[in-house]
Amino acid sequence: MAEPEVRVFDKLLPNLRTNNEYFAGSDEEYVPALYETIARASGLLEPGEELVFESSERFTQAAMGSNPVSTRFLQILARLVRAERVLEVGTFVGVSAIYLARALEAGGRVVTIEKFPEFAAIAQRNFVANGVQDRITLLVGDAIERIEELPADEPFDLVFLDGHKERYAEYFEAIAPRLRTGGLLVVDDVLFHGDALNRVCRTEKGEGVRRFLDRAAAAKDFLRLTLPLANGIMLMLKQ
Ligand SMILES: C[S@@+](CC[C@H](N)C(=O)[O-])C[C@H]1O[C@@H](n2cnc3c(N)ncnc32)[C@H](O)[C@@H]1O
Repeated sequence: MAEPEVRVFDKLLPNLRTNNEYFAGSDEEYVPALYETIARASGLLEPGEELVFESSERFTQAAMGSNPVSTRFLQILARLVRAERVLEVGTFVGVSAIYLARALEAGGRVVTIEKFPEFAAIAQRNFVANGVQDRITLLVGDAIERIEELPADEPFDLVFLDGHKERYAEYFEAIAPRLRTGGLLVVDDVLFHGDALNRVCRTEKGEGVRRFLDRAAAAKDFLRLTLPLANGIMLMLKQ
């Protein structure tokens, strides 16, 4: 009998049948086993295990921040572009900024922007507690306003966009000219819990990421890829 045809999307995710026919555990066991396998091979620890880490009382890092796979991915990207100047939109309590600061070239700097003073205050304490305060400039306020105040003649090597989803397309317009040629824009949450896949989005945040994805589709001056990792991570390399 002929083998079933493998369609273009059949190998997209590790848990699809074509990629997972030998896993012997149950469906419930699959994701924990996948994480454990990735974390062990990659030497990943949770922020609480390797940072001096104060969390927010309102949201946990697991719920609001990047997970260890994403922060390690950011570090590898920063090393690959030899990042000296990094911009982050959306600091929360500072975990991704700390990992980015640890991946900078010597003398490098992370500028990170957080709208809410409550989170910014915790982030600043976390920067000091982890000894990276000299490598991070924390700006408080609306990111679009803060980005527009940044000098246009000091371009960034890497930008991590992880703020207000409703305004992602506007962020793109503000960030693109501030990225050096060969620099990388990393955009988090671009599938927004599945809403970006809907013909009609169910949330304003979903609509925001969809508008951004439409803009990205037209950005032919960037080499771009939407990765089916976490909540969707888009890579845009400025050519
Ligand atoms: C997903 S969290 C960031 C997580 C963090 N980058 C990490 O990976 O650990 C998004 C953050 O963006 C902040 N934010 C929302 N709207 C913003 C705006 N207009 N300007 C700056 N920050 C904003 C939120 O307060 C929140 O702390």
